[in-house]
Amino acid sequence: ELNIQLDKPKGKISPHMWGVFFEDINLGADGGIYAELVKNRSFEFDNPWMGWKKLEHTSGEGAYLLLNDGQRKGNKRYVRLTNNAESKLGLQNEGFRGMGIKADATYEFSLQHRSNAPGMQVHVALLDEGERVIAEAQTPLQSTATWTATALRLQATATTGKAKLKVWFTGAGILDVDMLSLFPLDTWKGRPKGLRKDMVQLLADMKPGFIRFPGGCIVEGRDLANRFQWKKTVGPIDERELIINRWNTEFSHRLTPDYFQTFGLGFYEYFLLAEDIGAAPVPILNCGMACQFNSGELVPMDQLDEYVQDALDLIEFANGPVSTKWGRLRADMGHPQPFNLKMIGVGNENWGPQYIERLAVFTKALREKHPEIAIIASSGTDPEGERFEFLDDRLRAMHIDVIDEHYYRPPSWFLSSASRYDNYDRKGPKIFAGEYASHTTRPNGPGKSTWEAALSEAAFMTGLERNADVVEMASYAPLFGHLDGWQWSPDLIWVDNLRVYGTPSYQVQKLYSTHKGSDIIPVDRAGQPVAGRDSLYASAVYDQHTKELLIKVVNYNSKPMPMRFAIATDRKFAPVAQKITLAGKDLNVSNSIEEPLNIQPKQADIRFKGKALTDSLAPYSFTLIKLQTK
Ligand code: AHR
Repeated sequence: ELNIQLDKPKGKISPHMWGVFFEDINLGADGGIYAELVKNRSFEFDNPWMGWKKLEHTSGEGAYLLLNDGQRKGNKRYVRLTNNAESKLGLQNEGFRGMGIKADATYEFSLQHRSNAPGMQVHVALLDEGERVIAEAQTPLQSTATWTATALRLQATATTGKAKLKVWFTGAGILDVDMLSLFPLDTWKGRPKGLRKDMVQLLADMKPGFIRFPGGCIVEGRDLANRFQWKKTVGPIDERELIINRWNTEFSHRLTPDYFQTFGLGFYEYFLLAEDIGAAPVPILNCGMACQFNSGELVPMDQLDEYVQDALDLIEFANGPVSTKWGRLRADMGHPQPFNLKMIGVGNENWGPQYIERLAVFTKALREKHPEIAIIASSGTDPEGERFEFLDDRLRAMHIDVIDEHYYRPPSWFLSSASRYDNYDRKGPKIFAGEYASHTTRPNGPGKSTWEAALSEAAFMTGLERNADVVEMASYAPLFGHLDGWQWSPDLIWVDNLRVYGTPSYQVQKLYSTHKGSDIIPVDRAGQPVAGRDSLYASAVYDQHTKELLIKVVNYNSKPMPMRFAIATDRKFAPVAQKITLAGKDLNVSNSIEEPLNIQPKQADIRFKGKALTDSLAPYSFTLIKLQTK
């Protein structure tokens, strides 16, 4: 029997409780959610021709030149084509493991050019795997001495995930080209040069309380030169200076030497995405330290000002009036209203005295200028799953608002840690379980999100929910994996160039985040804690808005478990309760691109018998019971 103390709520649940962690890892941004189909559109990758093939219609000396006149900050290189009346110089782009093209959909190709010759034309075609043309269009290019943007639209006649883009030019003359780009018109909210709609939809469906961005290790960079600098990711897209992605090649299942961050998805777009999906923005900034697993490079203390200023300016960019420098930029980019930033993370997986020293400088400046902004501090990463006591004590002494804990651990750890926060200090900082995932194999091996992993996470999350007065936020990590190019697995959502599916872990996360409630309701079995006894895990919440009692139970047994729910309350309930179950026929079951819904929620009704609600919990199941109070 589970006792549910509905009349004794134990505390409030943060509206930001369950969120998402976004990082450009596994082709999450470039080649993923950022819908650009052309790889290396501005020839700025370390190898400028990466992703491109010259269409050798002529062997003319100097027909293709790669130039860098140093005139355009952030986007220095371009290609000069010297065409004669007979030649059709051009370029072919391979996309990110091909391009995802859908029959009947419309695509916009664009480029920047300048040329000294009238009468030139740009021709564009999309080719499928068999080199068949599946879309074609052309348009004249104006003769112009200054860089000019030109666009044309193509409609596809076939669907393929492995298309290529062919661009060639006719007419005699010298032509400079740059920023060759191809986007579907049908993006998230129809925004030009926007985000992949199917991928964002899966996030929106979770109704996440927050979105953490831009990572992860890419915040730190392997060295400080390649850290994430938000100021380089805002303003005109063609001026954003790309860098090599910290995840380029390393750990790679399919080598990714072509992994760069072009920042078409930059901080403005992240804030907009957060707003679109109703999530609080949670930016994490570099604290003056590069990744301690790589170079561990430190900025000297007397040069930390620039980093601190980045944090202060970010708050101005997000919240400042349009009369300020950074508030003005936000307005110029299309969003005069503030983005309502309330918290900021300083450092990702940083630790040690060097971190504390740097964090202290950030904290002083942020507290002085922006006491309204909550500070999230890193607690490093913790291979043993125990908190770094040294760090915790320091962070408590600094009155940090929130500590960001990460755990990538086996299912057994998640099960045994369901009571991790039961006796946690309630007076100090709150907890942000900022990155976690149950790993059935080694973290960087080909681990899959099986039902075993997801069910152990569901069990652990009952513990987060029971302790939501101290655990204010939680997010699974990483979010996205591309089937043809990933470095880290398991991930919450997998995609290829055309399709997307949620793992069993996604289904668990979604069930929690769409049923987060507002008040913690204590649960016990004969006065004893539930966590783990007889392999059962449970938590309950009440939702003030919908007036529902929401009970979550994990049955980690291979047998069904009869269950009676005894609800201590004077309130009346609707006679029929709703039950939503996630269950697998065994623990190894998973979802896949071919079978995306092996694990999916199943709904049923349960009726009260007199005052009692009884049910049988399926073997290896996660059950949500929804009771409507009257
Ligand atoms: O989520 C993948 C990586 O795991 C993140 O980039 C990092 O913060 C953690 O080590």
